[in-house]
Amino acid sequence: MNPKMRESEVAEPGTTREGKPPVFGTYSSLSRRSFLSRLGATGIATASPAVAIANVVDAPDTPPARRAGTQTVHLSINGKRQTLQLEPRVTLLDCLREVVQLTGTKKGCDHGQCGACTVLVNGRRINSCLSFAAMHEGDEITTIEGLGTPQEMHPMQAAFVEHDGYQCGYCTSGQIVSAVGMLKEPWGPADKDVREAMSGNICRCGAYPNIVRAIQMVRSRVSQQGVDA
Ligand code: FES
Ligand code: FES
Repeated sequence: MNPKMRESEVAEPGTTREGKPPVFGTYSSLSRRSFLSRLGATGIATASPAVAIANVVDAPDTPPARRAGTQTVHLSINGKRQTLQLEPRVTLLDCLREVVQLTGTKKGCDHGQCGACTVLVNGRRINSCLSFAAMHEGDEITTIEGLGTPQEMHPMQAAFVEHDGYQCGYCTSGQIVSAVGMLKEPWGPADKDVREAMSGNICRCGAYPNIVRAIQMVRSRVSQQGVDA
């Protein structure tokens, strides 16, 4: 973790949600009932668009400037501590994309149905569109940007390249992050197990066979060579 934090500006408000009630997703730990009840508690289930209001401040001990209706949220994003001022209704996905400017995590359905927004929270994969950022106080968030770089790719990223596990690429960051998470879960080793485990990540281009091959290659390297995936 880099303790030296950069100074960031106050983000301009973003309007990203359509006001439709989200749908419970494959990986969310929330039940549909509890999620909708939280929506009701924060007033998100209205026709008005959500507005992401945030401060990102340099040092985690520095109190950020408060804005009416916001709360302080501390997140560790890709190993970097962030102190944010967020409206309670800002989803983790919008926080990452609109506030922290990490746009590798994609918004597909925004309803928990496609998996494009998958990130790791404390090592566990979730649909970030179904989770409020304020619910993750102190959590470790890993996005696709935190896995590797073009020069030094994560084994799963390299496997997707090697096996052409994508076409348009829109689902790919979610697929890769989800695959990294699922290899740490107690799924069986067969292709059908991978397909089941990855069923929450939709690929409109139909790259599924190559995605499975990529994941299986990483799995075999993990078991044979002890490569950390
Ligand atoms: S599941 Fe979150 S954007 Fe589709
Ligand atoms: S590569 Fe196009 S949606 Fe998956």
